[in-house]
Amino acid sequence: MTEKLIKSKIRVKKHGEVFTPKSIVNLMLNQPEIQEKLNSLTATFLEPAAGEGAFLLEILRRKLRLALDLSETLIEYEENILIALTSLYGIELLEDNCRRLRMNMLYVFHAIYGKNVMRKFSAKVNKKVINSAKVIIRANIVQGDALNYINNKNEPIILSEWIVLPIKYRVRKIQRTEYTLESIINRNQPTETSISSQVEEFNLFADLLEDDNVKQKNIIKYIPIKIIDIYKQLVKIEGKENGSIPNKNESVFIGGYSSK
Ligand SMILES: C[S@@+](CC[C@H](N)C(=O)[O-])C[C@H]1O[C@@H](n2cnc3c(N)ncnc32)[C@H](O)[C@@H]1O
Repeated sequence: MTEKLIKSKIRVKKHGEVFTPKSIVNLMLNQPEIQEKLNSLTATFLEPAAGEGAFLLEILRRKLRLALDLSETLIEYEENILIALTSLYGIELLEDNCRRLRMNMLYVFHAIYGKNVMRKFSAKVNKKVINSAKVIIRANIVQGDALNYINNKNEPIILSEWIVLPIKYRVRKIQRTEYTLESIINRNQPTETSISSQVEEFNLFADLLEDDNVKQKNIIKYIPIKIIDIYKQLVKIEGKENGSIPNKNESVFIGGYSSK
């Protein structure tokens, strides 16, 4: 079957919408410096004009393969695939593309998880894993204008940093913190890579909290939580200096995943 690389001439003219063929995606991702990063579950990738996810989907497939190789137990595998997913970010201007991209990410994640969980661990798909994957995809794949750092509501684009904390009492937890895209980009200069115009890989959130130039209001910090419980989205309320809600360290449940 031939790949459909454009949807209409008008969209090409208006938004530069031409999708990258699979062969080119693979060629680019096979570059040694990218391969090296693909051998890490946590190395972050941002596709700033993501379309329907030509690069992100292939990176996801490769990272899920790595997660399988690195996992001996079912718990490890389920945690590792969610960690892999947290490392992938996309921004797309057009609503239909963004919706399709999110669906594509979830489809690939679900299909590969479903197959491997049965084959390697003789287990069934865990709903908590899928719901956590939905929350991650919704947070990391954003509709907006990557050049002006704003979303479709004219608000700043927000991305989440996901840090895996050291294992304590045999439990691996994850800490989610939100940042504006503007603070991330102005703080970090992307490293030069041969595919930097298409997929940018760099440590997206490196040292952001320590940077005095990052005077971001309303940083939302979530409560460190078991990786499989990401779907609960428990948020930690910072003090007045960072937001409008006064009770420091108060825990608030702000809802489960949204299927929208
Ligand atoms: C050339 S296509 C590439 C899509 C995808 N990266 C690929 O390789 O198949 C560019 C995409 O960027 C989107 N786009 C255009 N301007 C944008 C902007 N300012 N911010 C985010 N996305 C934008 C378009 O809607 C289109 O889907």
